[in-house]
Amino acid sequence: VTGFSGLQRLIYASRWTDPVRPDIEDVVSDILARSSRNNRAANVTGLLVFHRGWFLQVLEGPLEVVDDTFDRIRRDERHTDIRTVADLPIAARAFGEWSMAAERLDDGMARHLTEFAIDDSFDPATLDPSSAMALLLAARAARMETSGEAGLAGRAA
Ligand SMILES: Cc1cc2nc3c(=O)[nH]c(=O)nc-3n(C[C@H](O)[C@H](O)[C@H](O)COP(=O)(O)O)c2cc1C
Repeated sequence: VTGFSGLQRLIYASRWTDPVRPDIEDVVSDILARSSRNNRAANVTGLLVFHRGWFLQVLEGPLEVVDDTFDRIRRDERHTDIRTVADLPIAARAFGEWSMAAERLDDGMARHLTEFAIDDSFDPATLDPSSAMALLLAARAARMETSGEAGLAGRAA
């Protein structure tokens, strides 16, 4: 039995808009700069995964600030087709390491995720909540492996 934490986990999928496509690294850097500042202040943590035209992001934190953050994110014209994959209260954070971090699913990593068959036709919006969690946790593990290096991450407070 878990007590009331007031924490919420929101997972959504979206598609890059076309202007983003050639400059995804720059766009992700800009998102992380804004996210580290805003999320740290709001006690939000999470992870942003990107690959072949899509984003999958998890946000964790107090319910109201997660909702406010998502309201702001969904108005951002750098992505479209925003679809909520999971939105649920949690007892504890699973992505508490970073105010926000980004992990590109490279083909090497995607190949290990055979359960998802992450090819050109893969659409993260069709993931059920537990598969989305499995994918995000795999990306988190990959992010942890490289976290000793200077990477695209902002530390959580
Ligand atoms: C895929 C994606 C993920 C984002 N994630 C976050 C986030 O976690 N936190 C955040 O504050 N802004 C995030 N943003 C940026 C917001 O849409 C918005 O640009 C930003 O919050 C504005 O911050 P500012 O008013 O401090 O410039 C994201 C944008 C995109 C496209």
